Amino acid sequence: MKQKRVHILTYGCQMNVSDSEKIEAALLSVGYTATKSIKNADMVILNTCSVRAKAEERIYSVLHTMKGELKKNPRLLIGVGGCVAQQEGERLLQKVPHLGFVFGTHNLHLLPQLVTGAESGRRLVETSFMDDDSRLDLFPAQQAGGVTSYVTIMQGCDNFCSYCIVPFVRGREVSRRAEDILDEITRLVESGTREITLLGQNVNSYGLKDEGGTDFAALLRKVAAIPGLERIRFMTSHPKDISTPLIECYADLEKLCSHIHLPIQSGSDRVLQMMNRGYTRSEYLHKIELLRRARPGILFTSDLIVGFPGETEDDFSQTLSLMEEVAFSDSYSFVFSPRPETVAAGLPDEVSKNEKRVRLDRLLELQRKMTADLHISFLGSSQTVLVEGVGKRAGQIFGRSSGNRIVNFQGEPEMIGQLLDVLIVRDFQNSLLGKLI
Ligand code: SAM
Ligand code: SF4
Ligand code: F3S
Repeated sequence: MKQKRVHILTYGCQMNVSDSEKIEAALLSVGYTATKSIKNADMVILNTCSVRAKAEERIYSVLHTMKGELKKNPRLLIGVGGCVAQQEGERLLQKVPHLGFVFGTHNLHLLPQLVTGAESGRRLVETSFMDDDSRLDLFPAQQAGGVTSYVTIMQGCDNFCSYCIVPFVRGREVSRRAEDILDEITRLVESGTREITLLGQNVNSYGLKDEGGTDFAALLRKVAAIPGLERIRFMTSHPKDISTPLIECYADLEKLCSHIHLPIQSGSDRVLQMMNRGYTRSEYLHKIELLRRARPGILFTSDLIVGFPGETEDDFSQTLSLMEEVAFSDSYSFVFSPRPETVAAGLPDEVSKNEKRVRLDRLLELQRKMTADLHISFLGSSQTVLVEGVGKRAGQIFGRSSGNRIVNFQGEPEMIGQLLDVLIVRDFQNSLLGKLI
């Protein structure tokens, strides 16, 4: 079979990064290997994100620029997968005449057929949902990992937060079998991985649908027992599902890192209710307190939405005060974006565009200050750093502390993969500078 080349462009979250690896594996059977350059590609695949309108608009703009590539190579085949593909389906083919095929988030296993059809000139769409776990382990997972590797443990989301498109484009929650996850991690560790990040839209619902099976806390304990694995992280966990067994893991499992990404979205109970988040401000703060008790020094990060329909100045000031109360080490903040099919898209929205922008800036400023203060507090402390690579400056290497702060320091490339104790000597906004102890 003639070797053909596919250039894959990945947008959005880590789920898509992981899916792109599977897309690459699926295309091997029809003669494609991946290329980093579009210049020598026979096919381009866009693996897309539609979480906010801007992400979706970007896909149309990239597809527009593909017209230029088609002029250079009229045989170039273009396909779109991922969350925009799932959302738009047939409409994408209609809107973009130079598009060859569209495949949804549950259809990676059908790619070989779709590509073969598209190669013979047909324009094809496949976006049907499969709500069982048979598609999760169809393609060989990553064979050799880096020092840090991601492992998907579940897909989909059942939470239906009122603003969010993910449940519509990713379908219902499906968990992978614990044995498959443990096998994959064991293989990665054998090939050099020291830190694993378990991935899912809502990891602490892991296994809850499988009666008598392994739940998330039990999975963490099994992962922690894998010899040679040094660190465990996970993303993302939903505050309403932080359970007592999970909190106990922070007291018991040394390998579990002292950081948790626990998106609050808003500090106002009124807004949280409109968002259908399923917890109140005080319940969230109580869980933070329990986690701090189980693991002193643990750091928290969050996602935040400003300008949710009907958010008042008072609601917003409660988000700011909550941020200060928790002292997030970092946060990812977004202006509310109405998404198709979601409940919030139909709510009356009186907050002006300008006001939303101003609120976002105020929030970003507060976060900058809190991160800076936190970094100052690390001065003179010793942090255990897992070395991930060579730094940007000559002679420097870098890694992350257990609390997920980036630390640069003088060291040798041979130290990559080692856990080293480092004295923090300087603070920056986005990183720390250390000295090997
Ligand atoms: N499952 C994760 C959770 O519940 O925390 C988050 C997944 S979502 C891909 C990542 C973040 O995007 C959310 O936490 C939220 O802050 C933001 N987001 C989702 N929908 C949004 C919307 N319509 N407008 C603005 N931000 C949004
Ligand atoms: Fe979206 Fe909410 Fe599910 Fe997260 S938990 S993916 S925000 S619906
Ligand atoms: Fe985007 Fe889909 Fe992830 S909407 S954030 S790529 S699940």
